[in-house]
Amino acid sequence: MKKVLISGFLGQDGANMAEFLLKNTTYAIYGMLRRSANPNFTNVKSIVSNPRVKLVYADLTDSISLDRLIQEIQPDYFINFGANSFVGCSWDMPVQVFETNTLGVLYGLEAIRKNCPSCRYYSAGSSEEFGNVDYSPQDIQHPIKPRSPYGASKGAARMLVKVYRESYNLYAVHGLLFNHEGTKRGEEFVTRKITKGVVRIAKAISNSEKFEPIELGNLDAKRDWSDSEDFVEGVWRMLNQELFNPEINEKIPEVRARDHGILLPKPVEFYLAQCLKEYVLSSGETHTVREFVERAFAEVGIEGLWAYPVNDPNNPTKETFVAAYGSRETLVKVNPKFYRPAEVELLVGDSTPIRKELGWKPKTTFSELVKKMVSHDLSLS
Ligand code: GDD
Repeated sequence: MKKVLISGFLGQDGANMAEFLLKNTTYAIYGMLRRSANPNFTNVKSIVSNPRVKLVYADLTDSISLDRLIQEIQPDYFINFGANSFVGCSWDMPVQVFETNTLGVLYGLEAIRKNCPSCRYYSAGSSEEFGNVDYSPQDIQHPIKPRSPYGASKGAARMLVKVYRESYNLYAVHGLLFNHEGTKRGEEFVTRKITKGVVRIAKAISNSEKFEPIELGNLDAKRDWSDSEDFVEGVWRMLNQELFNPEINEKIPEVRARDHGILLPKPVEFYLAQCLKEYVLSSGETHTVREFVERAFAEVGIEGLWAYPVNDPNNPTKETFVAAYGSRETLVKVNPKFYRPAEVELLVGDSTPIRKELGWKPKTTFSELVKKMVSHDLSLS
């Protein structure tokens, strides 16, 4: 049975990837966890007791632990979703962010190179690497221009993956993922913060109770939001390019030779690594945080208006979203503490190549995503 090691197993993408693989393959899943006094198993509660799932312990910042784990498991795939993924806190702990997001990738690549060179490696790249963008939509050729320690850490990881792929012929890819959300999203990210807040306020209004507004930062940031469940399929396609792109088999006679049982001088991965491509995953649409707020409230039947209830209408930090009818209560207000020292103002991705070459396409639209997240949060309360 093939083995897939997933770091960041308890997070949104790790859990969605494990669910996808349980449904679509017969492979064994090794969910990698860090030692923690109180690990949160909420995202994996429906799969953690599946006999194909095994929990294993290591830490991306501890090269010895990764080395040992890869040596012991000999995985066919290592999908590295482990990261310090919250951009906002990367200014507060830049070293920890680099240790996890960049050195963690280096340690993983080294462990594979030494112990298991045919293991396919996925590195979770980010549209944050594009930063203050030169053009739209952004594609794989867009330069790395990060605006945060987080974006820089991911850009550096991308370079390491390139170097290891080219130097050692590893099957290693760094996918460029735009924002992806869903019902397993952490509450520090803006989409889940909004949907949880909307549900809290809707319940309070229906019970005629008082409530505090949702406090947000930059309402004008534009993001290309998709569903994480769609993205894990795109990641899997990037890790199995020869299965989805017949042209690769055409290009590499040695790969065809394998299919005919001819002995190859080197492992198939050696030839495949030479024609690997990295891809952008995105919806191709962009929406402001403001629009996300409006849609999420519309899902619970609350219409609102943007207003400046104080004397200084030019100060955007005083903007609020108030209920359009009835008491005109404040639903959302801006709190400068949620602004970042530097912002990525606009992201919108061009995912045409993966759609054409690997046949991937997202199933969930922006409005379906908002609806799904609000409905889920309603079902929790
Ligand atoms: N988190 C947060 N909280 N963001 C806010 C808030 C708030 O109260 N108010 C406004 N925003 C704005 C942020 O300034 C940012 O422009 C946007 O909402 C999205 O913020 P996040 O949801 O925190 O995500 P992100 O875009 O910074 O990063 C996510 O996407 C990247 C891919 O582009 C993360 O998932 C990263 O790990 C991922 O790489």
